[in-house]
Amino acid sequence: MGTQKQDFYGFLAQTSKTPVALEIVRAKGLWLEDTNGKKYLDLISGIAVSNLGHGNPEVIKAIKQQADKHTHLMVYGEYIQSAQVQFAKRICSLFPKTLNSVYFVNSGSEAVEGALKLAKKYTGRKEIISFKNAYHGSTHGALSVMGDDTLKTPYGPLLPGIKILPYNNIKAIQKITRKTACVIIEPIQGEGGTRVPERSFLKALEKQCRQTGALLITDEIQTGFGRTGKLFAFEHFGITPDIITIGKAMGGGLPIGGFVANRKIIQVLSDNPPLGHITTFGGHPLCCASGLAALEVLIKAKYYEAAAGKEKLFRTLLKHSAIKEIRGMGLMLAVEFNNEELCKKAIDKCLKKGIIVDWFLFCPTAMRIAPPLIIQEKEIKHACSVIISAIKELTSN
Ligand SMILES: Cc1ncc(COP(=O)(O)O)c(C=O)c1O
Repeated sequence: MGTQKQDFYGFLAQTSKTPVALEIVRAKGLWLEDTNGKKYLDLISGIAVSNLGHGNPEVIKAIKQQADKHTHLMVYGEYIQSAQVQFAKRICSLFPKTLNSVYFVNSGSEAVEGALKLAKKYTGRKEIISFKNAYHGSTHGALSVMGDDTLKTPYGPLLPGIKILPYNNIKAIQKITRKTACVIIEPIQGEGGTRVPERSFLKALEKQCRQTGALLITDEIQTGFGRTGKLFAFEHFGITPDIITIGKAMGGGLPIGGFVANRKIIQVLSDNPPLGHITTFGGHPLCCASGLAALEVLIKAKYYEAAAGKEKLFRTLLKHSAIKEIRGMGLMLAVEFNNEELCKKAIDKCLKKGIIVDWFLFCPTAMRIAPPLIIQEKEIKHACSVIISAIKELTSN
């Protein structure tokens, strides 16, 4: 019999040749513990998922209570299930009144698939616009709107009619026309290395969409549920999207995604022909119960309101000549080294020292910092001192 590590490599299909391969046995709050009892401070939240940290008691209680009532009953959309109905109603209460209907799916990628299909069906148009260095998921439709060719090329042909524009470039917005079904954009780019656009860019984008009838989809899968200092990142920029995709932190640690739009728009999926977007497990009752409990904890404690102060502390403490820039908003940050090798070594060294940081898909020179929103000053100070000592050891400076 192999060790668990051998079985991990032997039986699980791998996503890369170099998985992190930490063997974690439990997680509580900000801390993960491995098989040797070594503790790791989580500075990435499982990539923007664990916004409340791990094992929040209210969330665990809600999952257990729902499990005692029922788990899966029927494919999404057929039965009236209390956990789904309550969660949908609460989610809609967070958005402007025009966004009053939510379609539940299982993941971020599926939310993007649903949103793109919805825009095509509603507008009767075929062209979709996205942006350079955008990441919207890994399924065929989501891959088609990815703003990086390396990951796309082996899987062609992808969706036709995709145009990729430069991010944060007002002039390029003119490419959005009456042929465009929708524009999909991350209000703050995640995998591009945490890029915050100008308010004027997003305002102009919204205006061009309104003028041409193209639907504006903001992908809040990574930015949502408090990560950037507001409940959703579009709120920073004074825009109102037509469709919002959500996922990641939405389920309080369980898998769920969704897309939110006006009822008049979203209903086109249910007619002519009906069953326009079918999902067996979408809006699984356990995930809805968990997500609702997490949302109530988040809103009651208003963790997002403290995110700006915590961002400031990271910015103050992470100072070293090898750090060229810190980008981002709230607790969605990128530490830019402008040197891929140093960045990679620093990430590895931090991990060895018990601090979990990470990299970005399309920005190999930056280190990701996106801790659970519950992180406190003491842990931020500890994390920053470890990161700085790792950089010092690597640069002898
Ligand atoms: C902005 C954005 N959209 C979509 C996705 C895809 O979500 P999932 O991995 O749940 O399919 C991600 C995942 O990282 C993301 O960051």
